[in-house]
Amino acid sequence: MLVSAKEMLQKAKAGKYAVGHFNINNLEWTKAILLTAEELRSPVILGVSEGAGKYMCGYKTIVGMVNGMLEELKITVPVALHLDHGSYEGAKACIEAGFSSVMFDGSHYPIEENIEKTKELVALTDKLGLSLEAEVGAIGGEEDGVIGAGEVADPKECKMIADLGVTMLAAGIGNIHGKYPANWAGLSFDTLAEIQKLTGTMPLVLHGGTGIPDDMIKKAISLGVSKINVNTECQLVFAEATRKYIEEGKDLVGKGFDPRKLLNPGFEAIKAKVREKMELFGSVGKA
Ligand code: 13P
Repeated sequence: MLVSAKEMLQKAKAGKYAVGHFNINNLEWTKAILLTAEELRSPVILGVSEGAGKYMCGYKTIVGMVNGMLEELKITVPVALHLDHGSYEGAKACIEAGFSSVMFDGSHYPIEENIEKTKELVALTDKLGLSLEAEVGAIGGEEDGVIGAGEVADPKECKMIADLGVTMLAAGIGNIHGKYPANWAGLSFDTLAEIQKLTGTMPLVLHGGTGIPDDMIKKAISLGVSKINVNTECQLVFAEATRKYIEEGKDLVGKGFDPRKLLNPGFEAIKAKVREKMELFGSVGKA
């Protein structure tokens, strides 16, 4: 059964480790992440962006697939199915479809509007026992069209949103989605420390997990990050393994063209990547 992310994240915050949020794109992705979480006895969050939701034929299809897998694969570790960077309407649609967790990303609204909309979703998710992630942060650090620093949130605004009673809070601290540019300034640990000071026990979320050096990940966890989002890195290893299979001509040998064979190296690559991240985040054995 899907669970809210609240308990797993509060435990992670208290225990100074982080739970991995891994974005899913299809059946292979979902199966790879769930099996690895079960093998490692780790709690896990499956992230679904609105785009991936459309790609996978809508939220109901995803809820059906994930619930089916939990049962058929006998998954016993805590699993949350979470909308990633949701709009207000998207969050409501996921709640209706059976997600156990949603993110409302109001970071592009003026702070008053972000507060208003987040407040409404707090009331709704509270009533249903679901978890809610909110986001604060303005785009910053762009120079000559090159993003050098990513988003840096205002710690006071973070406190305002945290005080609304959200489950977890994503705050920009210089992190960026996708690959980091060569001139990336790194994470702003001063900002993170200030946010953590003002928001206390609130689990903090680090987006853009791909490409952040291990020592920065560990430091971020020590400063209150308890959920780390990873997407691009799984896509990269999947593509690399699939490319290798085809370049070696394996699809041309016997029944190598069978999708169950063709997609297997990518599936195994995702499993290895998720394992590596769970070990780094410290969530192994915490289920
Ligand atoms: P990356 O694609 O950079 O790993 O970021 C994932 C993410 O933050 C999803 O919300």
